This record gives sequence, C-alpha cells and structure tokens, in this order.
Amino acid sequence: MFETLEPKSPDAILKLIAEHQNDARAEKVDLGVGVYRDADGKTPILKTVKKAEHWLVGSQASKAYLGSRGDIVFCDAIEKLLFAEGAEDNSRISTVQTPGGSGALRVAAELVVRANPDAVMWVSDPTWNNHVPLLGEAGVKLRAYPYYDTDSNRILFDAMLEALAAAKEGELILLHGCCHNPTGMDLSVAQWDQLADLVTERGLIPFIDIAYQGFAEGLDEDAYGVRLMYDRVPEMVVTQSCSKNFGLYRDRVGALSFVARDEATAKTVDSQALYVVRTMYSLPPDHGGAVVAHILNDADLREEWLAELAEMRGRMNGMRKLLVEALQKTAPEHDFSHVEHTSGMFCYLGVTPEQVARLKQDRGIYLVDSGRINVCGITEGNVEYLAESIASVLY
Ligand code: LMR
Repeated sequence: MFETLEPKSPDAILKLIAEHQNDARAEKVDLGVGVYRDADGKTPILKTVKKAEHWLVGSQASKAYLGSRGDIVFCDAIEKLLFAEGAEDNSRISTVQTPGGSGALRVAAELVVRANPDAVMWVSDPTWNNHVPLLGEAGVKLRAYPYYDTDSNRILFDAMLEALAAAKEGELILLHGCCHNPTGMDLSVAQWDQLADLVTERGLIPFIDIAYQGFAEGLDEDAYGVRLMYDRVPEMVVTQSCSKNFGLYRDRVGALSFVARDEATAKTVDSQALYVVRTMYSLPPDHGGAVVAHILNDADLREEWLAELAEMRGRMNGMRKLLVEALQKTAPEHDFSHVEHTSGMFCYLGVTPEQVARLKQDRGIYLVDSGRINVCGITEGNVEYLAESIASVLY
C-alpha cells in the first residue's frame, strides 16, 4: 500500500541542521535552526536545568504514568508564567502539558476543528514555516494577514488591521506572543492595544503562540499580548514552549492553555483536550516538564534561571549590534539597521534565495531561504567573516 505515497521534501529549517553538520569547512556558520548558541558556538544545557535534573534523579520515586494532562504542577507553573499569579485558580483556564510547542499547536488545532469543522484561522504573512502544515493538516482553514514589508523592514500594521477587519466573528487569529518567527519584529504595546480593540469589536478568538517568553525584554514584558487578551476576551488559546527559554529543545516541553467563556465550558474543553491527547500520543514525556516545574517553584533556582535568561537575551542583542556594525563597514550602501530593532533569535537579513544559496555554497553559511537568520550563530570570532561574506553576495 505504501507505494501510493509521494516522497516529501524535508522541512526547510530542519534540513539545514544536517547540511551544516555535513559541511567539512572549518569556517562554516550555522544561522539556521532556532537554537541558542553561546560565544563558543555551543548550545549549553542551562546550569539551572542541570541542577534540577540532579534533584530529579535523586528524588524521583516512580516512573509510573501520570495521565494525559502530564504534570499538574508543571501546568500550574506555566499558567502563572503566562497569565500571572492567581491564574492557576481561575476555573475558566485549563492547561495540558504537551510535547513541545508543536505538540500544543497540533492538539489545539485538532480541538478547534472538533469544535468547528469549518474553523478559519488568520496567520501572519510570513509566519513560522511549520505553522501552516501543522495547523492546516489538522483541517483548520488558514487565511493570511499581511505582517511584514521586506522593502522597508517594518510591520504592515495598517494592512494587518485592514485584513483582519474582514475576519468574521468566531474566526481565530494566530499571533506570536513575542519574538515573531521569522521576522523578529514584534507589535508595540500601542499596537497590541489597538489589535485588542479590533479583536473584541469583531468577536475574534486570539490564538497566541508564545515560544520565546523571556527572549525579547523579560518574562512579564513578553507576556503583554497574552495578558492583554486574557483581560479583554471571553475565550482564547495559548500554545507555549520551553524549548528556548529553558533550552530543553529535544526534551519536548510545552503547554496548551484554553481560556473558556465559563467554568462549565472550560471543563468540557479540558475533557476534549485530554481525549485528543489520549488518541494522539496518550500522554506527554515527563522529564523536561518536571525540570521546568522544579525551577519555577524553587525561589533560588528561579532567580538563577532568570539570570541565565537575561544572559541569553543580552548575548543575542549584543550579536545583532555587532553584525550591524560589521555590515556598516563591508556593505555601507545597504541599510541593516532594522536588525537592531528585532527581538529574540530571528530577523530577516534582506537577502534573496539566490543569495542564500551562494552564501551556503561559496561560504558555508547556512540560513533559511527566506533570508531568516538566527543571530545566536554570530560570534565575535565569525562576525567579520559573516559581514564580508554577506557583502560579497550583495554586490
Ligand atoms: C525554528 O524556527 O528554527 C525553531 O522553531 C525550530 C523549528 O522547529 O523549526
């Protein structure tokens, strides 16, 4: 039977991992997949994660099943992180632990379609390259709203509002909580406020994907959009990931939260979420969630983690600045200043797919075809090589 299947091309981001690994050139640079890298180009395990893992190995008494929700302590900790202290007692919110943010997105999409087989979701153009297949394959009907102008490197906020003004009551709008992937350009506080007005006026349902909380400005600042919508709308969906802010990429730690109109609906949604999980993967992996819960609930470890988060944020901002300065020297006619106004790991460099191919082939520099770079791949040691290579494909 399987001969009926057509071959699929590999995911555009994940394939860069292997391509970079197989490149024998010493000077190669990986600006592709979204993983944090330190000044030595390594993706370290956070010190707080190591400490929590030691604690877990020493104290865990059983590996018995926990259930489809995962760890309730983890779910409560994530609700506090997203919606603020006290949220864990709000009976309108229900949360399930998921295998990473992608797991949360897929479970959410399945539930959306169960609730409404004709559900429409508006997604930014551009958005994370896996959003469209991940949500679309579950049956959600996707529409695009303009988000970013590659000529001016600005958010197309007016065009975004204009497109969303055509959305019908009950349609969902996918928003990136912070650190927009792939552009790194986030809505300002004033823009979030304006958007919240439109969302409430039109009766839209915010679906916020927040995979980088703490990578833009700080935990609370980065949750502005989530908390604003939480205050303003009767129902919303939030998908969350601990891959980046806890560096737990391969351990697959994430969460899906629903805010429902009332307690009774929340209970129903929760029961459906548990059913979907049971029929998809039964229950989530525990290890990473237990580590996160321990860090968030231990005052000292939490403080230490906040410092690690600040360090990662500082390095990303430092590397952005360094690259812009280096490019001012090698490509003075080109304006890269927008790079400094982006948040988190990503930004658009402003190069064409052909230039991306040349960077890869001639220079061993790996980035997504769209020209998205992960600034964590920049180091003091490679920034000049990068700037000189980028200039070489621009002229
Ligand atoms: C990225 O956008 O590079 C990350 O979110 C990793 C992924 O799974 O694509």
